Amino acid sequence: MGDLIIRNAAALTPDYIPPRLIDREEQMNMLNMMFGDYLKSPGSFYARALLIGGTGTGKTITSIKFGEYASRNSTVRFIHVPCWTHRTMHSAVRFIGESLKISIPRRGFSSEEILEIIYDHLKDNGIYIVVVLDDVFHIVNNSGADALGTLIRFYDEHIGEHDYHFSLILIDRDDSLLVKLDAGAKSTLGNNIIRFPPYTKDQIYEILRDRAQAALMPGTYNDEVLEMIADVTGASGGNEGRGNAKQAIEILWKSALTAQQRGSRRILPEHVRYAVKNTLVIHVGELRGMDLHEKLFLLAIVNALRRKRDSAYVTFGEAEDEYIMICEKYGLRSRRSHGQLWHYLKDMENTWRIIETRPSGKGMRGRTTLISIPYESLDVLAQELTRLVEFELAVR
Ligand SMILES: Nc1ncnc2c1ncn2[C@@H]1O[C@H](COP(=O)(O)OP(=O)(O)OP(=O)(O)O)[C@@H](O)[C@H]1O
Ligand SMILES: [Mg+2]
Repeated sequence: MGDLIIRNAAALTPDYIPPRLIDREEQMNMLNMMFGDYLKSPGSFYARALLIGGTGTGKTITSIKFGEYASRNSTVRFIHVPCWTHRTMHSAVRFIGESLKISIPRRGFSSEEILEIIYDHLKDNGIYIVVVLDDVFHIVNNSGADALGTLIRFYDEHIGEHDYHFSLILIDRDDSLLVKLDAGAKSTLGNNIIRFPPYTKDQIYEILRDRAQAALMPGTYNDEVLEMIADVTGASGGNEGRGNAKQAIEILWKSALTAQQRGSRRILPEHVRYAVKNTLVIHVGELRGMDLHEKLFLLAIVNALRRKRDSAYVTFGEAEDEYIMICEKYGLRSRRSHGQLWHYLKDMENTWRIIETRPSGKGMRGRTTLISIPYESLDVLAQELTRLVEFELAVR
């Protein structure tokens, strides 16, 4: 057994809440500006904000920290809705209802009706809440921008209502929501946009230093190791797609694990290099959010691409064939229709952003869709997906 390097693995997981936030004072202050009066005199107006920033820029943790801070000084309750789990409007409002312990019949109610039930409950009991829809693009992709617009414009339908029992924080990764919303919803959100820029190398370094201190044994790492990880993940010189703290923490975790597995007493640069090569750009947690057959279909695309070697693309048909084979291998019936697989494909492209597609050009008979995975190592992806799929099948 290797020497112990990780003393508190929980501090390296996505659920961990760090005691302090690095360099997000500006975003916290803006939240305070937009919500301060609502917290001080609950119901006095309709507070709302849209947080926008790339993955791993601290949107979730900042909203959670703000909720914690608010609940110390106010009776307003924060309800944080993880839209990666509650991916439709219906599921999201149901979750809000459950959080408030309101009993809503399982069937027969639309999301608008459930929202009315929730609102009546809030009014009857004098409760004020802030709803945080985190990664709201899931809802837009599954229920449409109109469904979200209806929620945003809720008070338009309740003219004369001067007691605002819920306020709203939306979290998204880019500006596309603003294009999709109707004019009314857009103007309701107004200019209340809070941006989360990618983290610089220095900021990532600071975040990593706190994490390492909380998670690792003293003397098992040095500044250089953390700097190395900050160099690969921190934003610099307009490097698109960098500045992701999630990825940095995952690399730290994998570096420590590698050192431990190799029987080293401390993390060495070579362990970091190995960890960098073996960490996905997409967060493993996101793969976990896919349903079983979506994972299998992605694995099919990966396997088909791996077999090709000299070509960067597979056709939709090839992926479909591979999917049927994989289902057979696991003794599952490949009951997903062409249309369902197509839906998965669009989901992987637009929601998870793990694949790219393009229509086939000249030289191919008939028109088909070509699929590629430019961002990830296929070997690592296959390994992680296989692990997740086999785990899921084992616990079924
Ligand atoms: N300013 C910070 N200080 C300390 N830790 C941070 C900071 N920002 C982010 N982190 C940590 O980095 C990880 C990613 O942050 P978070 O989950 O908030 O990102 P996000 O913007 O919500 O990403 P996504 O769009 O993928 O959901 C978390 O573990 C979080 O605790
Ligand atoms: Mg988040």
